[in-house]
Amino acid sequence: MSIIIAPSILSADINRLGDEIKQAEDGGADWIHVDVMDGRFVPNITFGPLVVKAVRRMTNLPIDVHLMIVEPERHLDAFADAGTDHLTVHYETCPHIHRTLQTIRELGMGPGIVINPGTPINTLEELTHDFEKVLLMTVNPGFGGQTFIKSMPDKIRRTQALLHEKGSTATIQVDGGIYSDTIKDCYLAGATNFVAGSAIFGYKEGIAAGIKVLRQALEG
Ligand code: DX5
Ligand code: ZN
Repeated sequence: MSIIIAPSILSADINRLGDEIKQAEDGGADWIHVDVMDGRFVPNITFGPLVVKAVRRMTNLPIDVHLMIVEPERHLDAFADAGTDHLTVHYETCPHIHRTLQTIRELGMGPGIVINPGTPINTLEELTHDFEKVLLMTVNPGFGGQTFIKSMPDKIRRTQALLHEKGSTATIQVDGGIYSDTIKDCYLAGATNFVAGSAIFGYKEGIAAGIKVLRQALEG
């Protein structure tokens, strides 16, 4: 299973976003992760489709959009038109999650489902063939720079077992508090796709070095 490192631009210097994304790309990033927050599902407000459209012009890497918004089904078209490759919606925001995942696929994007730390994995059971990836939040969504929740590797392990039991080919992504000291436990538990904001854009020796340190931690 190939490893994906997805830097989250939430922690980038927005004044120099193009340059920071270029540094991430040159440093070996696989995807660019964009956190969309609405001030309702989560307290913070961040980016919308216009920013995704701008990011689309800054890089050829796949764009991974994480929607932390209520009623995401109202905005799927806009994110598809903006150039999103992978679109992830929170289970907690979707009363008709099956339909929403189908629509994401029909719009030509890779459908992803994300669950909060407090949401049990049995919510995934009926959907294991409807998403390409499951994002397990390893912090409560809304902010960068939070501390990794230590019980999450066990949840990753149980999710991996569920996907296996159902014959699903979906991959497991983790997001929140991913640093060189937490990434390996997630990998050993079954995650292959890693979102990191502070550990990459906030890394003292630069963005490329931040990515390198995470990859080294996976190998170590
Ligand atoms: C949190 C966002 C994350 C965030 C992670 O709600 O979904 O993508 O950028 O930030 P770090 O890596 O700093 O925990
Ligand atoms: Zn995210």
